Amino acid sequence: MIITIDGPAAAGKGTISAYLAKKYGLAYFDTGMLYRAVGLQMVLEHHDLKDERAASSLAGALSFQKMNELAKHPDFRSDIGGQAASIVSAYPSVRAALLTMQQNFALNPTFPDGKPANGVVYDGRDTGTVVCPHADLKLFITASAEDRAKRRLHDFALKGIDTTYEKVLADLLERDERDSKRASAPLKPAPDALLIDNSGMDAETFISTTIPMLDEKIQMLLNKNH
Ligand code: DC
Repeated sequence: MIITIDGPAAAGKGTISAYLAKKYGLAYFDTGMLYRAVGLQMVLEHHDLKDERAASSLAGALSFQKMNELAKHPDFRSDIGGQAASIVSAYPSVRAALLTMQQNFALNPTFPDGKPANGVVYDGRDTGTVVCPHADLKLFITASAEDRAKRRLHDFALKGIDTTYEKVLADLLERDERDSKRASAPLKPAPDALLIDNSGMDAETFISTTIPMLDEKIQMLLNKNH
């Protein structure tokens, strides 16, 4: 079973992905981590973010182990990591280098402890359009930029990252613009994706209104595959 969940930053993709992964015994693949790893490595190694060749060579050498090491850095989830990820993710050579890693994961999906999973929930920007165009179920999750900025600000506060609502909103709008206007695999819903706008909902309401509808679809898919 392959489920893809795409949408802009802080739209609630992680929340629903984690819920579905747990409920159906699926591995969770946060594909943004790959781009964050390359972006942060560029910053830490003092490469110019405009240097596509450096970014593509780091992407080509990236392993899951290296990605998990970089994920411990305080800037991995900060605005710095997010902006760097968004910039390097616009390079076609970087996307090409990371595509196989993402697609191969579905051939033999595993949990972090190495145990086999029943499938994968992919979370990203192009997972339903490019990474897994034949996914069993595709969702495109969105919310207003203001709601997403409030959520991101709350996440940052929990992590002790000091910033302001205005900075977070400006950062999200800039990333939305770059992610959706880039020529290579731009952020957009797959034609067969289910569109869900959770503006004005808290995480609990989002899950409680969306899951019953998805459960029915997933159950039908599971019955069909048996
Ligand atoms: O989901 P995130 O905020 O961690 O993603 C960071 C950046 O990575 C995002 O601005 C765009 C890029 N990205 C992408 O281009 N394709 C994906 N499948 C996932 C993320």
